[in-house]
Amino acid sequence: MNPKTYKEKLLQELYAPYQNCHRCPLGSLGRTNVVFGEGNADARLMFIGEGPGADEDAQGRPFVGRSGQLLTKLLLLAGINRADVFITNIVKCRPPNNRKPLPIESNTCKKLLLLNQIKIIRPDVICTLGSSALSGLLNKDDVKITAMRGKIITSAFESPLNTIKLLPTYHPAYILRNPKEANILFDDLQKAATLAFGEKRSQNT
Ligand code: URA
Repeated sequence: MNPKTYKEKLLQELYAPYQNCHRCPLGSLGRTNVVFGEGNADARLMFIGEGPGADEDAQGRPFVGRSGQLLTKLLLLAGINRADVFITNIVKCRPPNNRKPLPIESNTCKKLLLLNQIKIIRPDVICTLGSSALSGLLNKDDVKITAMRGKIITSAFESPLNTIKLLPTYHPAYILRNPKEANILFDDLQKAATLAFGEKRSQNT
């Protein structure tokens, strides 16, 4: 079995017991789907957002609403095809009224699903989108996304994941509200792509 097929199987096995998860409060707060994530199971680059919104909850897929469409467009401009990366969220269930995930929700979901997804996929680079994903991943409630974005963190994970580089950037929903900053998100996506795939990927700019 090739590594990609094997990792796809491991991801399916990881997801199976959690398709109707009630291990954190979000399981009983009106979600429709547990949005596990999608993409290349053997991806070199992984994206982590905050949590599903209404469109993602309805479709069971991450980043398919307005911010997802912006992310997909900027990824393509940076030479990254969505199918080549893996995209998921710090929590897999929609928080009511799109509120930020609570620490109990992020921590539970991280331990049960996200860290295991990372262990299976073993990307070279993880790009967090927005402060919830960064603070959830680092377990710090005081992250300053404006100061930290675009800077590579090499000490985010313990062995055996300690070779993974973490690159925080803005959430695309922030860019929808502040379109003048789109170039910053774009620059960070390019940086993530170069780190993961090298300089030679095709650029669609
Ligand atoms: N916002 C997120 O953080 N994740 C999604 O999947 C969609 C919107």
